[in-house]
Amino acid sequence: MVSNPADKVYIFDTTLRDGEQVPGSQLNTLEKIEIARALEELGVDIIEAGFPMSSPGDFKSVVEISKAVRKPVIAALTRAVERDIDIALDALKHAERGRIHTGIGVSPYHIYSKFNSTPDEIVERAVKAVKYTRRFIDDVEFFAEDAGRSENEFLARIVEAVIEAGATVINIPDTTGYCTPYEYGEKIKYLINHVKNIDKAILSAHCHNDLGMATANALAGIVNGVRQVECTVNGIGERAGNTSMEEVVMILKCRKDLPFYTDIETTRIMKTSRLVSNLMRMPVQPNKAIVGRNAFAHSSGIHQDGVLKNRENYEIIDPADVGVSDSSIVLSARSGRAALDHHLRRLGYELSPEALDVAYTKFLVVADEKKTVSDDDLRILAGIDTIEDAR
Ligand code: KIV
Ligand code: ZN
Repeated sequence: MVSNPADKVYIFDTTLRDGEQVPGSQLNTLEKIEIARALEELGVDIIEAGFPMSSPGDFKSVVEISKAVRKPVIAALTRAVERDIDIALDALKHAERGRIHTGIGVSPYHIYSKFNSTPDEIVERAVKAVKYTRRFIDDVEFFAEDAGRSENEFLARIVEAVIEAGATVINIPDTTGYCTPYEYGEKIKYLINHVKNIDKAILSAHCHNDLGMATANALAGIVNGVRQVECTVNGIGERAGNTSMEEVVMILKCRKDLPFYTDIETTRIMKTSRLVSNLMRMPVQPNKAIVGRNAFAHSSGIHQDGVLKNRENYEIIDPADVGVSDSSIVLSARSGRAALDHHLRRLGYELSPEALDVAYTKFLVVADEKKTVSDDDLRILAGIDTIEDAR
């Protein structure tokens, strides 16, 4: 399949808003600017810079990011409340291109037990907020909070009403990470098939990871028609986090059978991941897809032998594509002769097959004792075990 411009998926990065809601992580304005600049270099289309109404610090960060970062659209979050919208518009006044991201809860939980309201009143508040915002700015995104647990019929009704009121992007959040990919995809399909003028707005997926399905749900959304994904670097965010940006981007890059693309400069992914992890003091789990320490590390003998013969035997992503210099062949008691030979050659020792057998026997003893074997261990092994004599 060949991509056409309609198949571009916009990357809406919310590391600095939803991501920053992660417990224990409070970035100061300078740190946020540093991350925003890195996101700009990474090529994200939209940066959600904060929720200006929530605190003076968040307001200031949105102002400063709007001044410092010129290429991506800068979005500011608001509730469907005029005062919030006024404050957000003020915070965005220096933005080259600003976006108000306003919305309201649409699930029965939100309508009845959060707002103590009715469906009619919720539609009315949503429409009023969007119409009000459109008086001041053209780029208005509406979020239908907890859309994942909402009735499709009501969701379609409110989405149609806010498009009519002037919303240009419609965010369908699975706020509690409840949907399965099939359900989320069907929800998007339902909207496309039932909402009048749906093509006047871009649909956006905003998925949480409570059941580990945030990335799968975002992908189901894309396949069924969303063209913007809201995500965070390293998948950080409330509770179990948000859709991880690097995962969505690399799925679309690596699966050539999917006719979608992003404008992300993927070779900057690892650098940006490290920056966010350090500034937010949130270590990345070693087995995290794409950016974990072990994402390109091979430790079992069978895999190591396969990778050394042809990287693609066990790797679906070229590490260089995400800014990692090379795959690593980790030496442990699970490693085979091929891995040992590879590392000895790297250190300048070329052994005959017989010598390698001798070295391998010694190596296993060291590996059992030390769990992982370092270059220094190998040098000692090569030196004291008279590998030279065995040649
Ligand atoms: O998860 C969510 O519903 C949100 C909205 C505020 C966009 O983060
Ligand atoms: Zn969210």
